[in-house]
Amino acid sequence: MTEPNISISPAVRSPALKKVHIETWGCQMNAADSERMLALLAKQSYELTSSVDEADLVLLNTCHIREKAKHKVLSRLGVLKEIKERRPGMTIAVAGCVAQAEGARLIKAAPQIDILVGPGKIDELPRLLSEHDTSGKRAQAIGFHRHPPALPLSTASAAAVAPPTLSGKREVSRYVNIQQGCNNYCTFCVVPFTRGRELSRSAGDILAECTALVAAGAREVTLLGQNVNSYGSDLADQPSFASLLRAATALPGLERLRFTTSNPHDFTEELAALFATQPRLGRYLHLPVQSGSDPVLLRMQRKVTVASYLERLAWLRQAVPDIALSTDLIVGFPGETDEEFADTMRLVEQVRYGFAFMFKYSPRKNTPAGRYTNQVDEKVKEERLAQLMQLQDKITGEIHAAEVGQTRPVLFHYESNKNPGQFYGRTEHFRLVRVASTVPLTGQVHQVRITSGNKVGLLGELV
Ligand code: 5AD
Ligand code: SF4
Repeated sequence: MTEPNISISPAVRSPALKKVHIETWGCQMNAADSERMLALLAKQSYELTSSVDEADLVLLNTCHIREKAKHKVLSRLGVLKEIKERRPGMTIAVAGCVAQAEGARLIKAAPQIDILVGPGKIDELPRLLSEHDTSGKRAQAIGFHRHPPALPLSTASAAAVAPPTLSGKREVSRYVNIQQGCNNYCTFCVVPFTRGRELSRSAGDILAECTALVAAGAREVTLLGQNVNSYGSDLADQPSFASLLRAATALPGLERLRFTTSNPHDFTEELAALFATQPRLGRYLHLPVQSGSDPVLLRMQRKVTVASYLERLAWLRQAVPDIALSTDLIVGFPGETDEEFADTMRLVEQVRYGFAFMFKYSPRKNTPAGRYTNQVDEKVKEERLAQLMQLQDKITGEIHAAEVGQTRPVLFHYESNKNPGQFYGRTEHFRLVRVASTVPLTGQVHQVRITSGNKVGLLGELV
């Protein structure tokens, strides 16, 4: 795919004087933030480069959700320090949740950082850059705005321009940030501390950006927030998430609309019913459960029980009987007993998720669970994670094997770089499918007969 990205704003096309290299860790929210920072930098005549060695600015957009993520950032900063010693003119910027949460500690550990910007202040990146360029000193902005501009492209005119893609190519599937922060305070989670309180973006801005993305060639949009179901509760007219979904599914030219992440606590019967009437929502939902044990859910402060979670799945299955589900699971939460872990295994067997993101609990500073004294032994966590992954792999493999012989509409997202002629797409159930074709398929929907499947994905042929 060499097609230029037609979503690039005029400022991006002006002669680039400087190059930025962006590395993004963590969730889709960070990917969307990186695109927004690239849009801001493009206005300062920066263009994207995949090579650190030719970059004037290296931007690390970091994740703090688990301890390991922070260590990766520190080791990357070690490598960048050596490069900067050879090329002192290079600017190192750290953005994202590690910048927000670690601030001064991070600078102490890595004084080579020139710019530090938290996820709530990315609109200040251009100012920080020029401050650093002029003074040669470190510039930083962390913390939160009380109101947007926390979402820096949230003015109506800016929302009408699609942010450039990080790949530099046209992308079939794009993210649209609808909300920032989280008010939930699950006891294991740093997000409310790193991304602040919930702030919703206006429906008008969101729809304008979706429209701009579709005009730029996107066929699928994923609406992003930490807790999308509570979207709008902080806005003056209090629009519901269901009303936003109804408006977005009506946008001309949009093939599929997805959203993540849904907190089961705020997931309503009205939302579930939308899947029956809005085919563009597809037949798939990510609904994180975290644990299959009520006492663990209580200690996590998830505000749902296993029974109320299953009730939500029943609403969804009433709307779309074969709906595919995915989830997030944490093993080894403080105090998790063998029996409580066995309850998680039982839930996974019962629900039969299409796939799951599975994590060992990672104690985080400043979170309630990080201070619990009954931490689970690392070895036990590892064993539980391996057991759970093995079970999920088996289920995913079985679900994929049962797809063989079915004909499914597939939206094709991209052509393999390594193997031209191999196209990857997704079914309405969000299953990954690979199809060989001599004609380009990217951006199109085709009926595909599934010929084989394993725990990773499906193979198919055009019908
Ligand atoms: N340890 C392990 N996993 C975590 N997650 C969030 N915080 C932690 C933590 N401290 C997982 C949850 C969440 C996903 C984004 O990351 O499963 O849904
Ligand atoms: Fe973290 Fe819970 Fe908020 Fe999700 S809902 S971001 S897990 S605090």
